Amino acid sequence: MTRASVPGKIILFGEHAVVYGRPAIAVPVRQVHVCAEITRLPNTAPGKVLIEAESIQLKKWLHELESNHPLRHTVQSTLKALQLDHVPPMHIQITSTIPIASGLGSGAAVSIAVLRALSLHLQHPLPINVQSELAFEIEKIHHGTPSGIDNTVIAYDQPLYFVSGQQHELLTLDSPLIFIVADSGERARTIDVVQSVREAWRLEKELYERIFDEVGQVTNDARQALEAGNRPTLGTLMDQNHRLLQQLAVSSPKLDRLTQAAREAGALGAKLSGAGRGGNVICLAEEKTKDDILDAMNDAGSAWTLATEIEA
Ligand code: PMV
Repeated sequence: MTRASVPGKIILFGEHAVVYGRPAIAVPVRQVHVCAEITRLPNTAPGKVLIEAESIQLKKWLHELESNHPLRHTVQSTLKALQLDHVPPMHIQITSTIPIASGLGSGAAVSIAVLRALSLHLQHPLPINVQSELAFEIEKIHHGTPSGIDNTVIAYDQPLYFVSGQQHELLTLDSPLIFIVADSGERARTIDVVQSVREAWRLEKELYERIFDEVGQVTNDARQALEAGNRPTLGTLMDQNHRLLQQLAVSSPKLDRLTQAAREAGALGAKLSGAGRGGNVICLAEEKTKDDILDAMNDAGSAWTLATEIEA
């Protein structure tokens, strides 16, 4: 049996602006993960691949999936990268603790887990950069015009500073950081939110470019604060980033309520994370405020919460 397990992710700074060439910062979230397990299928014709993913009630042969299905693409692009035209019969089992469509990167995590496990199973492990590039192509099916930040942070499993089309930079935090992630319970598809920001940008380019510039500045300041371990500044920058996301019209009353409740409960800062109009908020906590913030998120109607520590 071959197994690969990969984490979820959160975007700390710079979502949306990153689609327009500005920097963003993301970190892996290891409390949640996708696991792909591959076993041989005895007494089965070569080339037959059975895919099972309980969390989306899927159990099908690969060839039964529609041609643009992300899982079909994932397997086919792995084989192409390995220059193989057929595979031994196998069973790919995908299990996930990453909530779907909640901004924790479940789509990219599934792609990376499957292509990592598959290439290992075929005894040609793909380099991480290739895994990330292949997953980026599959992200396009989910997201239309993704920046590439999700596949990169999940493939490298490290905090990183990311500018689309450039080599990312790994970040070293001065001290560990505790984030509370709280799901609003509201759902919006990333592809739709990104599309509506694009329509607004087309109508008011000057305004949107200025907001993106400000987000880029906040992200660069946040990088310095992260590397210097300056938590109060980091919190203030998260609040600023949230206000800029409000100006981009990607927040929602619930996301605003959650971030406000987190600040009142002692968070150093809070913002929506990911595409917005739903999904989750992230709050910068300290050991002494962590439980109060978790309680505040539950009281404010969060669907689920988790506390994650990003290592120094
Ligand atoms: O919804 P998520 O967590 O995958 O985040 C999307 C982030 C965007 O910047 C809005 C889009 C992108 O591709 O970077």
